[in-house]
Amino acid sequence: MEPVPQPERGRGASGERERPRRVTTLRLRQMKQEGQKIACLTAYDALMARIFDEVGIDVILVGDSLGNVVQGHETTIPVTLEDMIYHTKAVVRGVRRALVVTDMPFMSYQVSVEEAFRNAGRLMKEGGAGAVKLEGGERIIETVARMTAAGIPVMGHLGLTPQSIHQFGSYRARGTDPKEAAQILRDAKLLEEAGAFAIVLEKIPAELARKVTESLSIPTIGIGAGVHCDGQILVYTDMLGLTVDFHPRFVRRYENLYERIRQAVAQYADDVRAQRFPSEEESY
Ligand code: KIV
Repeated sequence: MEPVPQPERGRGASGERERPRRVTTLRLRQMKQEGQKIACLTAYDALMARIFDEVGIDVILVGDSLGNVVQGHETTIPVTLEDMIYHTKAVVRGVRRALVVTDMPFMSYQVSVEEAFRNAGRLMKEGGAGAVKLEGGERIIETVARMTAAGIPVMGHLGLTPQSIHQFGSYRARGTDPKEAAQILRDAKLLEEAGAFAIVLEKIPAELARKVTESLSIPTIGIGAGVHCDGQILVYTDMLGLTVDFHPRFVRRYENLYERIRQAVAQYADDVRAQRFPSEEESY
């Protein structure tokens, strides 16, 4: 009889309480080798991070998309390192199992390798991140190589890179022409050589993502990059239907929380105004 697969569990240092075994960068590579898909989501606070972690999400990304979804900005450009540290601390408090990856915000790693080091160090030491994510390929390779050599786990991000919005002028799909596709493939290989442990591929053709995925031994995590990637990531507010004005075709909505929260809050307000809340049972 086949042995029944056991959940990954281990004992804490004191041995008294079972806790789930942490997802590591090594484990993600093994998952690719074993053909197990990697499920990733963004989170920005302890409340949501705890739910995602309990369900078994493997990687929780503290994305600089918090600039859009939490702070209400139009782009991720205004997000600061202090913002990322603050939200990383909150997410880390909610997580016991998942690998927490934090985005390095715009201009926190482009000025110099030294500054990138200092800032990545703060995200890990003060924020508690398990790894950092940087957007770009060839132009940041030296930074990635120096970071990984120093023990900072780096996730790459290719294809649509939202921090370059003002350079490209739109959020269109990338890698749709042969020159751009070849550059993405080349960047992916350079990132792997520089020691990155995984690469996010955003909004590129599924066929190109397949090529990139097959040419690397590190996992690819797709968002709008088709089914061939080793894992998938979505911004959680999109997949739960909390963001209403954003409907790219790569987002699958699993809930309509915007509407459900509206209805619940409207009901509460009605109850307060009609003195139906609080009831006697809800009073002391
Ligand atoms: O900032 C973010 O949420 C991201 C994901 C879209 C991959 O980078």
